[in-house]
Amino acid sequence: SVLRCAQILQASKADGPNRFEDQEIKVNGLVRSVRKQKRFAFAEISDGSTVEPLQAILKPAQAADLTTGAAVEVSGLWKACPPGKEQSHELHATAVNVVGATDPETFPIQKKYHSPDFLRQIPHLRIRTPFNSLMSRFRSECLFQLGNVFHSHPHGAFTQVQPPIITSSDCEGAGETFTLVPRGPAASETDHFFRTPKYLTVSSQLHLEAFAAELGNVWTLTPVFRAEKSDTPRHLSEFYMLEAEVNFMDDMESLMEVVEHMLRDLTRRLYNTTVGQEILSAKRTGESGNEGTTESSSLWQRWTELMDGPTWDRITYTEAIAMLQQAVTEGGAQFEHPPTWAEGLQLEHEKYIVEHLFKGRPVFVTDYPKAIKPFYMAPTTVASEAGNSLETVACFDLLLPEVSEVAGGSLREHRLPDLIQNMRDHGLIKPRALPESGDSTSDSVSLEPLYPHLTPTEDLSHLQWYADLRRWGSAPHGGFGLGFDRFLGYLAGVSSVRDVVSFPRYFGRADC
Ligand code: 4AD
Ligand code: MG
Repeated sequence: SVLRCAQILQASKADGPNRFEDQEIKVNGLVRSVRKQKRFAFAEISDGSTVEPLQAILKPAQAADLTTGAAVEVSGLWKACPPGKEQSHELHATAVNVVGATDPETFPIQKKYHSPDFLRQIPHLRIRTPFNSLMSRFRSECLFQLGNVFHSHPHGAFTQVQPPIITSSDCEGAGETFTLVPRGPAASETDHFFRTPKYLTVSSQLHLEAFAAELGNVWTLTPVFRAEKSDTPRHLSEFYMLEAEVNFMDDMESLMEVVEHMLRDLTRRLYNTTVGQEILSAKRTGESGNEGTTESSSLWQRWTELMDGPTWDRITYTEAIAMLQQAVTEGGAQFEHPPTWAEGLQLEHEKYIVEHLFKGRPVFVTDYPKAIKPFYMAPTTVASEAGNSLETVACFDLLLPEVSEVAGGSLREHRLPDLIQNMRDHGLIKPRALPESGDSTSDSVSLEPLYPHLTPTEDLSHLQWYADLRRWGSAPHGGFGLGFDRFLGYLAGVSSVRDVVSFPRYFGRADC
């Protein structure tokens, strides 16, 4: 029967008797490289189960049609190597079958250094480079472990739910939605498929709140879509967001504990897996097809900090601004945009906070100005240095070195009148389409408001269902969203999300 390279190589590294030694074995895979000599040929075979290739030794005749990139079936004897060889064992081939030949002149992936830019142009083949293959397995392991993390979370088990991708609303209110239209000849037909405009979701939060009202603790990992024209290593147009929502949650500290525990536990579990160890020790440069810039040693530090470091710091946004301003006046820090309370944190400010002020340790920044945050957040107040009370919201951003903002969350406004006022302030309430008034003039028609706390001329339209969650059985609650690809990149030491995701979509690019 066919074995996987990982099985064979692991058995050969383990202590004790090797159950494959001197046995006839068979592997299927791709040829990573071939070296042909007079009496023997050497081939590296990889089947995507481990980074390390399996070494095969062949007779020149067996290797005649073997080229880098070919799909092969190889059978042979698994024999110990004489001392002094890099590998402990190699496969002495008895039968070689090239099932899918490759023209070495045209196959783009060779055993040599390829630049990140070059590889990004061929994402469908980039998957076959050792590091990118490893990244696919690392992502898979994360998904597997996440289920366990949420299942055994000390805040109580979380139910995994599957919210829709097609939505009516722009949850974040940033105007970055992609509109969904069916393919069709007539614009009038396409307009009416769902009766009203629909978008690809930018966040599952609003639907998670509906689930949480019944289920208590919920989580999801879904693709989200943002039409941001941000040409940066941190932004994708399609990315995975890990979101959780907790009902009966009325303090920020408990919410941040949920996030912190989840990330520490996930990292710890990954650390205890083979693929986690492969990521920690994978080659960082050269021909492995790795776009990462992080040295293995600082990657260990990152993981250790996440797993075992002291409780992450929490500072308020107002404190962060004061610290940044002090860094300018007293520490000689220079920013393109001077930090101001009203304008929010720029990337350069976030980087300075986490990398300089907190020496590369994760940090939560809380209570941002109400005016720069979405409509659904619960209010707080923070005292300014001058003793004034500032209008803020109960939210946090979690900052990590290199990626900066990796997660954001908040307590939600759970009171109906206050939510409606926030929606009004954010321009989310539509003018009501008044009935045709016939002979009577419209001002003589007395209208009942469409919904509690609305005026007669207002319409909640596509967000009425969301307000309903506050109308019946509304408890204080909160949740967060984590940029899953950003976090994976942080763990793997891959500095651009374009190299974390196999088929990245970003401004100007979605070719394969
Ligand atoms: O901060 P954001 O916009 O938060 C929300 O959407 C909330 N509704 C989540 C919630 O409370 N349930 O996005 C959450 C995270 C960010 O912190 C960032 O890490 C990541 O998503 N993110 C992106 N990742 C890759 N490419 C982009 N274009 C991203 N935009 C946000
Ligand atoms: Mg955010």
